[in-house]
Amino acid sequence: MYRILVTRELPGNYVNEIKNKIDANILFYDNKINVHQWLIDNIEDADGILITLNEKIDKEIIDKARKLKVISTYSVGYDHIDVDYAKSKNVTVTNTPEVLTDATADLIFGIMITVSRRIIEGNEIIKNNQWESQWNPYYMLGSEIHGKTIGIIGMGRIGNAIAKRANGFDMKIIYYSKHRHDVNIDYVDLNYLLKNSDFVVIALDLNNETYHFMDYGKIKLMKNNSYLINGTRGKIINENDLIRALNEKIIEGAALDVFENEPLSHDNPLIKMKNVVLTPHLGSATLETRSKMAEVAVKNLLNVLNGNEPLYKL
Ligand code: GLV
Repeated sequence: MYRILVTRELPGNYVNEIKNKIDANILFYDNKINVHQWLIDNIEDADGILITLNEKIDKEIIDKARKLKVISTYSVGYDHIDVDYAKSKNVTVTNTPEVLTDATADLIFGIMITVSRRIIEGNEIIKNNQWESQWNPYYMLGSEIHGKTIGIIGMGRIGNAIAKRANGFDMKIIYYSKHRHDVNIDYVDLNYLLKNSDFVVIALDLNNETYHFMDYGKIKLMKNNSYLINGTRGKIINENDLIRALNEKIIEGAALDVFENEPLSHDNPLIKMKNVVLTPHLGSATLETRSKMAEVAVKNLLNVLNGNEPLYKL
């Protein structure tokens, strides 16, 4: 009988159905102790674990596992897992790309429009009963989206999906990434992108090379009426540098779905900035997408346990 650890309830019935497909004993995290400790305490005999991006799977956990065959993460990102170490111990690591690409690109595009057209500010004015003036030619002017230049940093699946949306909005699209991709979009060098984009959109994954990729020096190259948008991983931007740049009005604003530390601390200066739109890591947060992610994460897990190739592996 397989022993499987599951750290969160997931949408859909996929996790429950595991038992109909293999002989398995599934242990759910019960919130009684912190999840890292719970994994350490229970992983020794586990064959597979189904985790989310909240769970840091480090050497300590992997070393405790004696039978582990698969770490299935319910996320596209895998910066929370020591993938190289897991692989060195013959543990397969799987993730859930593709099914969340469109939902994430929608959200990133959404927060980009929201910050530039001041949608949250407008909403707050009405909800706080502060809409007192009549329609006025100069009232709450924002920046247009169509016709503007969007500079996408990273051209993986999510970057590509953002470009598709930008195309529909008649934007001029440029991109930079470490390697040129086979896409019909202008590839430019990073300095050009930063200096010429009205919207700089981060579409990178987090790794040692992209940690604090956007720092003060790079933000300083951006136009001062431009916006920085991030919906992949918070640690790609040096948040203190961004706060400094916003305070110094080096850029017009920012829209962020991800942060260096989540949840965002209540005294983070970004919270008080009107020209910054913040959402709590909602990229894949639709019932449809989260259900598809559960289906993929469970299939990945089962495939590895059954000796087959998972749908996606790292
Ligand atoms: C979300 O951030 C993910 O990595 O799936």
